[in-house]
Amino acid sequence: MEFTRVDHPIVQEKLRLLRDVATPPKEFRALLAQVSVLLAFEALRDLPVEEVGVETPIAHASGVRLAHGQPVLVPILRAGLGMSDGILKLLPEAAVGHIGLYRDHETHQPVEYYRNLPADIAQRDVLLLDPMLATGGSAVAALDMLKSLGVASLRLICLVAAPEGVAAVAARHPDVPMFGAALDSHLNEHAYIVPGLGDAGDRLFGTL
Ligand code: PRP
Ligand code: URA
Repeated sequence: MEFTRVDHPIVQEKLRLLRDVATPPKEFRALLAQVSVLLAFEALRDLPVEEVGVETPIAHASGVRLAHGQPVLVPILRAGLGMSDGILKLLPEAAVGHIGLYRDHETHQPVEYYRNLPADIAQRDVLLLDPMLATGGSAVAALDMLKSLGVASLRLICLVAAPEGVAAVAARHPDVPMFGAALDSHLNEHAYIVPGLGDAGDRLFGTL
């Protein structure tokens, strides 16, 4: 499945501010929350709906509701929390599952340290959230886990992707659509995205 770059001018301006080394954590958090709503809006465009009528004060009108209810948000800790915080404002009834992964500094391989997901997640639409798709190791591990639990409806939202990460997800999970604000140039020798925005978790939580 292809990577969809959300090229809306509002998304792109916020991305520039998020990339800026001078943007402090307080602003970084606010911008990431805002841009995540816009990315989710695009990623959820094809959510299944069913027809339901509605009575206005004047007359009957046709309408729709989400066929499976609001999707489950699954942020990958830590940085994914900056995306779920924003998207919950759009989808306040969404359940939130958490997957804790960190990248080993030497091997760059993801290490799982936490998992707490809704019991009925297999029947739900799931939105996997992680601002940075670098090697793709974290996203692939999270998708492996979700599929092993029976989840079939999956979408991945990131802020910035590297070609290496997109290729890794597409190779292992070709059915999972990816959405983001940017597809950057490459990874550096530390597996950081170039030009990227640095370490998203550190910039979000001020742990630089
Ligand atoms: C970062 C980021 C992703 C991962 C992406 O997490 O938030 O989860 O790296 O890299 P990958 O595509 O190569 O797997 P990190 O390990 O720095 O943990 P943190 O969010 O707790 O800072
Ligand atoms: N994780 C980050 O936070 N940033 C990168 O550029 C790569 C992985």
